[in-house]
Amino acid sequence: MTAPTLEIHLTDADLTEALRSDARYGLTSDPKTLPPKWFYDARGSELFEEITRLPEYYPTRTERALLERVVGEIAQVARAEVLVELGAGSAAKTRLLLSALGAAGPLKTYVPQDVSESALRGAAEQINAEFSGLAVHGVVSDFTDTLHNLPGGGRRMIAFLGGTIGNLIPAERAEFLAGVAAVLEPGEQLLLGAGLVIDPAVLVPAYDDAAGVTAEFNRNVLHVLNSRLHADFDPDAFTHIARWDAENEWIEMRLEATRDMTVTIPDLDLTVHFTRGEQMRTEISTKFRPDGLATELAAAGFDTEHIWTDPDDRFALILAARR
Ligand code: AVJ
Repeated sequence: MTAPTLEIHLTDADLTEALRSDARYGLTSDPKTLPPKWFYDARGSELFEEITRLPEYYPTRTERALLERVVGEIAQVARAEVLVELGAGSAAKTRLLLSALGAAGPLKTYVPQDVSESALRGAAEQINAEFSGLAVHGVVSDFTDTLHNLPGGGRRMIAFLGGTIGNLIPAERAEFLAGVAAVLEPGEQLLLGAGLVIDPAVLVPAYDDAAGVTAEFNRNVLHVLNSRLHADFDPDAFTHIARWDAENEWIEMRLEATRDMTVTIPDLDLTVHFTRGEQMRTEISTKFRPDGLATELAAAGFDTEHIWTDPDDRFALILAARR
């Protein structure tokens, strides 16, 4: 068994630099915002894993069951020799895809990408041990940069699962899909997992669970600012808010200041004020309509080949080919 290779395009110093830039921009904007990618330090990743096991949080288990049910069909229409997985994390769902693509087709190489070197190293080693004959080549990077560093060496399928595409605002999404299209050759494929628009009575609790795990996950971004930029946020002075924005069809998570506060961020030479009741956006999680997604994909240069949904129409897997 040859060891998996790991390519690192993102160092810890790069991460700090990116956080500095995002924090300066977001905390001096009106209203204040912070991008959701900063939830995921070691503690945040653990909290997210915990979220996926909550009774209210249906997306992960729904996508997994759907993938289990249709992975054979995906394998029949897949042509990939190289599977690139964006935001692979612990690669929990990937095994299903790798077994099916490997059994039915010409798959030779798995390229998991993630921002977390530790998560990626672990996943790459496990997959490498489990799938003999599969070359595993991990890429530590920001997923937008990965596209410029995609290994060739065969027909590719890019998988972007979990519904993470919903974290992008429409303009970012268009840019992302166009970026994916730009690196693919005609006929190469994209497999996308996306949450669908459903009853807010089911949707909202998924982002505002009774046990308060999502609230801790949300506040974790403040712990990240404290530890990486030496800020002095009091995370407990913020309450978690999750609301359905019916116009934009996204869940919006915010942190609300429970009192007036002055926060200093020495590494940015920045002092920011919060007034009691002030809300800061920390994440959007867009939900889609299948035809809307197909339209966006078409605009980016893809032909939608198949859309699979679960029996309750809560989640979709979309397979599209570069035109
Ligand atoms: C990992 C981005 C898919 O948007 O549902 C879970 C993150 N946020 N609970 C999502 C998340 C709040 C999750 N994604």
